[in-house]
Amino acid sequence: MINIAIDGPSGAGKSSIAKKVSERLGFLYIDTGAMFRSLAYKALTLGIDIPNEHSRLREMLSQTHLTIERIDGSQHMILDGCDITDKIRTPEVSKAASDIAVIDFIRTWLLNLERSLAKQNNCIMDGRDIGTHVLPDAKVKIFLTASAEVRAERRLKELKEKGIETTFSEVLAEMKYRDKQDSERKIAPLKKADDAHLADTSDKNFEESVELILDIIKTEIK
Ligand code: DC
Repeated sequence: MINIAIDGPSGAGKSSIAKKVSERLGFLYIDTGAMFRSLAYKALTLGIDIPNEHSRLREMLSQTHLTIERIDGSQHMILDGCDITDKIRTPEVSKAASDIAVIDFIRTWLLNLERSLAKQNNCIMDGRDIGTHVLPDAKVKIFLTASAEVRAERRLKELKEKGIETTFSEVLAEMKYRDKQDSERKIAPLKKADDAHLADTSDKNFEESVELILDIIKTEIK
């Protein structure tokens, strides 16, 4: 199987770019952030204090069934039999996902799911630690980034389109909190793999970014 790893900070455009590139290549797109978000969503609905109640989190995991379904080509997260895809994009879940992602047993639990999906499919997997940790032997690795301001603008637009009310400064602050926590955590931090291509999309629109990533992949796969 050909596996492509795309990592980078929140709001770099990983999901939308990786989804489009996957369609063009006929590969499966796997969004690992949605997996962390799904577990964070369940912890929030159970009222678990994520940093301080690890035993409740372990118990939650032992009673959690998380699967991925493709509906009209999109990845849907099915948590304990319910489709929660449209519930995991709120700023509250974003923060909780970053908080839950520092916990070792959460990452181990998801690692099995991530690796088994990659084993069975030609895929583009996006996240924070795919090139460094989840798929160290990925055929192509890309670290996708953009300036914090550009990322916050893009995220604000996305949230507004979903009807979620927030401001630029709130989005920027949340993004900086997550960038710091995701890159400074001890286990599998957000980091460019030594053999990853760096792709900065600050000055590129969506189509240009897609072309840039396709060029990198085609050159490597050839
Ligand atoms: O990509 P995203 O914004 O949906 O990810 C949500 C959070 O999940 C992110 O702040 C950090 C965590 N995450 C991670 O630690 N490792 C991954 N491979 C993917 C996401």
